[in-house]
Amino acid sequence: MDFVVAESDQIDAETRVALRDLWRRAFDGRFSDDDADHAYGGVHVLARDGDRLVGHASAVPRRIRFGDQAWRGVGYVEAVATDPDRQGEGIGRATMQTLQAEIAERWPAALLSTGRATGFYERLGWERWRGVSYTQTATGAFPDGEHGGLMVLRLEPSVVPDLSVTVTCEDRPGDAW
Ligand SMILES: CC(C)(COP(=O)(O)OP(=O)(O)OC[C@H]1O[C@@H](n2cnc3c(N)ncnc32)[C@H](O)[C@@H]1OP(=O)(O)O)[C@@H](O)C(=O)NCCC(=O)NCCS
Repeated sequence: MDFVVAESDQIDAETRVALRDLWRRAFDGRFSDDDADHAYGGVHVLARDGDRLVGHASAVPRRIRFGDQAWRGVGYVEAVATDPDRQGEGIGRATMQTLQAEIAERWPAALLSTGRATGFYERLGWERWRGVSYTQTATGAFPDGEHGGLMVLRLEPSVVPDLSVTVTCEDRPGDAW
C-alpha cells in the first residue's frame, strides 16, 4: 500500500475519474457534484494498492469563526472514503494519519462534518463540536443545525480553547459544512 500526498493541481484527469468512482461507491450514491468540488483546492492523500485507488481524504483551506474571535484559516477535511471492498483493513486510518501530518504543517486546527463516522474520527484524535454552528451568508449569520456532526482536530489547542462556543463557516454551493 502507498499513501501518496498530492496537491489538487497535481491530480490528473484519470485519477479524478477514479476518485469520482470511489466516492460514488463508498457513499452509496449520496455524493454530489458539489461534494466533489469541495474536495479540491488543497492537499489530498491517495491510498493506492498497485494501480488501484482504494482510499482518499483531502483538506482544503477555509475561513472559520470560533465564538466571537476574528475569522481564521483552518483546514477542512472532505471526501474521506475507503473502497467498500477494502473497508476494515486500516486504510482509512492510515490515510487520515497521513493527511493529519499534512494538516499539522499548514493549519492550527481542522474541522469536518460527518454523518455516521464520529467514532472513526474520535480514534484519530478528533473531538465533537459542542456549540451551535452558523453559516455566514451575504445577509447575515444563521444557525444551520449542523453541529451534531461537526468535529474539530486541535493541533494548537490555544486557538480553539472552548468547544462549546458557536462556530461559523462561510456559505458555499452545496452543503455549507
Ligand atoms: C469511514 C471510512 C472512511 C472508514 O474507512 P476504513 O478503511 O474502513 O477504516 P479503518 O479500517 O481504518 O478503521 C479504523 C478504525 O475506525 C473504526 N471505524 C471504521 N468506520 C467506522 C465508523 N463508520 N464509525 C465508527 N468507527 C468506525 C474501525 O472499526 C477501526 O477501529 P479500531 O481502531 O478499533 O480497529 C469508510 O467506512 C468509508 O469510506 N465509509 C463511507 C464513506 C464515509 O462515511 N466517509 C466519512 C464521511 S465524513
